[in-house]
Amino acid sequence: MYAATRPIDRLDAVAYLSRMAKLPIVTLPDPILRQVSAPVERVDDDLRRLIEDMFETMYAAPGVGLAAVQVGIPRRLLVVDAAEEGEERRPLALINPEILWLSDEKRVYEEGCLSIPDVRVEIERPARVRVRFLDKEGVQQELEASGLLATAIQHEIDHLNGRLIIDFLSRLKRDMIVRKFKKQAKGGVAA
Ligand code: NI
Repeated sequence: MYAATRPIDRLDAVAYLSRMAKLPIVTLPDPILRQVSAPVERVDDDLRRLIEDMFETMYAAPGVGLAAVQVGIPRRLLVVDAAEEGEERRPLALINPEILWLSDEKRVYEEGCLSIPDVRVEIERPARVRVRFLDKEGVQQELEASGLLATAIQHEIDHLNGRLIIDFLSRLKRDMIVRKFKKQAKGGVAA
């Protein structure tokens, strides 16, 4: 289930991968999730195809956000769509995002993660965030977000830095969850 043949950096395999619409999502305890993602160096058609595939993968899951490292590509790229059910889609791709400002005001959300199925963690984060990033045309943009979008952007930027929602738990709880996923991976049981 956790492909042992996967190269460390699959960016050179993007051209091949992008022929598939939906990409496999990496889950705990795959060590790639702890890797710090490297900056995207070129915004080109290969990257835009990867972005499209990441959106398809995220919508199919379904999820509100997905970082490239979660599909095995440790590059600083994330996609989010915080639209409510029934609302029109608001796809947003952030390349090399940088947090410029976080509000003092905090907000608590119960967060889940596509790489840690069936685990939810209550996390307090800044309620608003301002980010600078490149859009899919390679143009620098700034965005101020609040609500679910602000939470999702912070969650996905954490992924780019190898940080996961279980890191907000006590060490005891975190170890218990990691152990459970290790056992599942070994036994090949999809619980
Ligand atoms: Ni996640």
